[in-house]
Formats: sequence, structure tokens, C-alpha cells
Amino acid sequence: MQSVAAPAENPLIEGLERLPVHPTTLTIFGGTGDLAQRKLLPAIYNLAHEGALPERFNLIGVSRSDKPHEDFQAEATEWIERFSRRKVDPKVLAKLMENVRYIPGTFDDPGVFEALEETLDAFDRDAGIVFNRVFYLSTAPAYFPVIVKQLGERGLDHREGVDVRVVIEKPFGTNLQEALDLNRDVLKVLDESQVYRIDHYLGKETVQNMLAFRFANGLFEPIWNRNFIDYVEITAAEDLGIGSRAGYYDSSGALRDLVQNHMLQLLTLLCMEPPVHFSADQVRDEKVKVLHAIPAPTLEQVPDMAVRAQYQAGHAEGQEVPGYLSEKDVPADSITPSFAALRLEVDNWRWAGVPIYMRTGKRLARKVTEIAVTLKPVPHLAFVQDGSTTIQPNQLILTMQPNEGVSLSLAAKIPGTRMSIRPVKMEFLYGTAFMSESPEAYERLIMDAMRGDATLFTRDDEVEAQWRICDPIVRAWEQTPGPVAQYEAGSQGPEEAAGLLRGGHRWRAI
Ligand code: BG6
Repeated sequence: MQSVAAPAENPLIEGLERLPVHPTTLTIFGGTGDLAQRKLLPAIYNLAHEGALPERFNLIGVSRSDKPHEDFQAEATEWIERFSRRKVDPKVLAKLMENVRYIPGTFDDPGVFEALEETLDAFDRDAGIVFNRVFYLSTAPAYFPVIVKQLGERGLDHREGVDVRVVIEKPFGTNLQEALDLNRDVLKVLDESQVYRIDHYLGKETVQNMLAFRFANGLFEPIWNRNFIDYVEITAAEDLGIGSRAGYYDSSGALRDLVQNHMLQLLTLLCMEPPVHFSADQVRDEKVKVLHAIPAPTLEQVPDMAVRAQYQAGHAEGQEVPGYLSEKDVPADSITPSFAALRLEVDNWRWAGVPIYMRTGKRLARKVTEIAVTLKPVPHLAFVQDGSTTIQPNQLILTMQPNEGVSLSLAAKIPGTRMSIRPVKMEFLYGTAFMSESPEAYERLIMDAMRGDATLFTRDDEVEAQWRICDPIVRAWEQTPGPVAQYEAGSQGPEEAAGLLRGGHRWRAI
């Protein structure tokens, strides 16, 4: 008789099990905004498509423009059809839309919160149960404290017997003081355990895989320290320009947009000590310790450890593209960097003396997010006389996107009579190993917020520690109007970035 593997033993469906989630009403402030259109609503649809949403689920969009529920439902349907990673199943989508409502108004208007309370209560009354409430703040950052305050004043910040959580999008402040103020305002109303600060990089499968890679394999731990690692390089390069986002981007720039959040998250996951349990506070305790071990530069030290630059006209996606200063709505005298590179150190027992280089930029040669860990060279090479001058120290590359995976460069002998050696690669690719498409980061994060798991969200002390490192750099750059280095669109970035490197280290080609 043929045996059939029980579902739990089938490796192809591992990880796809449905976790029970309490019935939930999710409210999106900024429900018609760009993020809601492109990411949030499609993510919710994909969760519905998989059957991963709670069995009872309602969605409320809140935005400025006045329209009836039906118009919002029609728009949401259109956005989902356009941006969903899966082909839309009309039945699933229609079912999802049955419990979608819309509330128009401005976020400082108490009337909006009165209408919200009525809508939330009506869902509870009609279903005869009390839903958990998740409020997702996907608005301009200036409204974050305003909305939280209004929720508190209306008594929507808590509800007997169920959980109320608030998800806050980035940016969490534009400097340290703003982050401190925002935390203070938010925590006046809510308990930290109710607050879910989003960093979508933490929702990426390959970013989480770094934890599995480090803490579920015995192989790397013995070498994961200053005795074996020469330097670390973290790259988040993009080929796209700023598009139509000048309004946001020009007041933000590369450091605030990607370094303060996503790149420091990558750094902490790479450098943290193993947590005792994979639970929200234990993981975040370890991450915060890493951030506290990074000395914040003084204003005078900034030029030596940080480089900023703007892209000039060049080529991207096979065509000529304008420079940063010629992008729509960018002021001609803007000094906002579209590229930032840093040299940091984690001053603790494990990492002292290991430079951690980071770079990010728009309009670079291609889109790639990776961490390269370069080991120290071997102490003695016996092969030099045989012409093996190309021997490189081992490099471990963790690629977050594209071609997600891990690769290790090794030195190998070229077949033949001579002892010639060249680098080869040992590679693991996510796509081929698991034969399945990874969910979008927002799917995982929305689910976690509904389940009440804050492991992949940024805690109050964590966001403040991130800002403590970036704040002096932001200030130094703002106080020095120029010159801002330049790089050609589609290139490897500014030459000045090489000035950050020490001890013969090299940036990898983008
Ligand atoms: C966002 C930034 O947080 O991250 C964008 O605001 C950037 O400027 C984006 O393009 C990059 O995210 P991803 O997932 O495409 O690497």
C-alpha cells in the first residue's frame, strides 16, 4: 500500500500552516494613500487568498476625500487587481469587500473618531462578538501623534476583553528629538506593548533568514567575531531615482530614508548575540545592545566616517535619466543626499575593531541589498610562487534581494599541473531550494500585528538608539551646506566613498 505523507510532514507546505487569529477590525488611516494602494491592501488580499486572515475580519479606510463606502470598495478592488502578487480570485476579493467601510475626514477632527467608533461598534454588534482592533497609521508623520491623541480622547485606545494595537509607519521622527517627542506622545496614550513601529525590512523572509542562518547552524558561530572577520559591508543599492516622491524625499534623504531604519536593522541582526528565546523582548533586547555599542560620532568626526552624494544625469533602465537636482519638485540648490555611506564600529567584545561599512543610494548600477562578511586572509600562503596571486580572503554574502540566498567564496585549485588557485562560489538560492514565492514583507507584518507578535517591530528604545547614531550625521550635513559629492546615474556611486575604507578593504561591485 502506498503511504501518503501526512500534511504536517510535507516539506512543501511547511511554514504555510494557519495560525489562529482573533477576529479583527483593521483601520487604515491614509486608506487611499500610495502605501495603502500598492502594499497594504494587496497584502491584505493575499492573506485572504491564502485563508490566513482571521475568519471574521473587517477593514475600515479613513482618508480625507469624501466618498461613500461603495466608491472606496471599488477603488480598493482596482488597486488590489493592479498590485496583488497573486492573480486575483474574484470570489475571494468580493467576499473581502463585503466588510470594507470608509470614513472621510481629517485626522484632527473629533467627528472622524466619533464615526469610527460607531463603525467599529456596529461591526461588533452585527457579529455578536467583540473584535480586536488594529489601527494602522499610514499617514504623513505629522499626523501620528494627532491620531494617537484622538484615539485616546475617544477612548478607542483600549477595550475590555480584547486587544487594541497601533501600527506606526516610518519615518519615526526626522531626528532624535522628534523620535523622543513622538515616543512620549504615543506612550502617554498607549502602552509600549500596543505599539508596532514598522520597518518593512524586518518582514522580508531573507532578512529573517539571517537569524536562522546565524542561530540554527553551528558552523558560523565560532568564526563570527573579530578574530576571524576582517570587515563587513552592507549595501542597499537601488537603480530607480526618486520618481515623483520629491516632496517626501528631498526633506528626508538617503540617511533618514534607509540608513536610520532598514540598514541599521540589518546591522543589528548580523551583530546581535543569540537571544535565549525568539520572543519579542528578548530579540529586541539583544538588538538594542548592539546599537548601544555603536559610538555616535561627534560633529567633527562626521567627515571622516560618512560620505553623502547626489546623482547626476546618466543612464538607467536603458535610457538617459536626469540628475537629482533636475528631478521634478527638487529645489535647484538642494543638498539632500541621494547616496550615503558610513563606516561604523560595534564596540563590544565580539566586534571591536571590525569596520562595518554601509552604503545606500538611488540611481546606482542595479538594485541589490546584501551583506558581505569578509574573513581575514590566511596567515601564510605557500602557493605564491605558482602564480596564484588572485587568492582572496573568504567572503560570505547574504543577499536579501534580488536572487535571495547565501554564497560563500572559497579558493580552489584550477585543474592542471600547476598549483594555481582561483575563487569559486558555494551557493544556496532561496528560490530554487524552496520552490515557492516568498510572501511580501507587509503580509507577514500585518499578520504579526493582528496576532500580537512584536518581534519584527521596532521598540521605543531601539528607534531612539538608531537615531542617536544618525542624528549627529544629519546635523553635521545640515550645518555644512556643501559641497555634496556627485556620481553619475547608473554608476557605482561617488569615488569619495572609497575614502571611508581602511586597511586595503574594498567595496564590492554593485
Ligand atoms: C522605503 C524607502 O522605506 O524603502 C524607499 O522609503 C525605498 O525610498 C524602499 O525605495 C526600498 O525598499 P525595498 O523593499 O524595495 O528594498
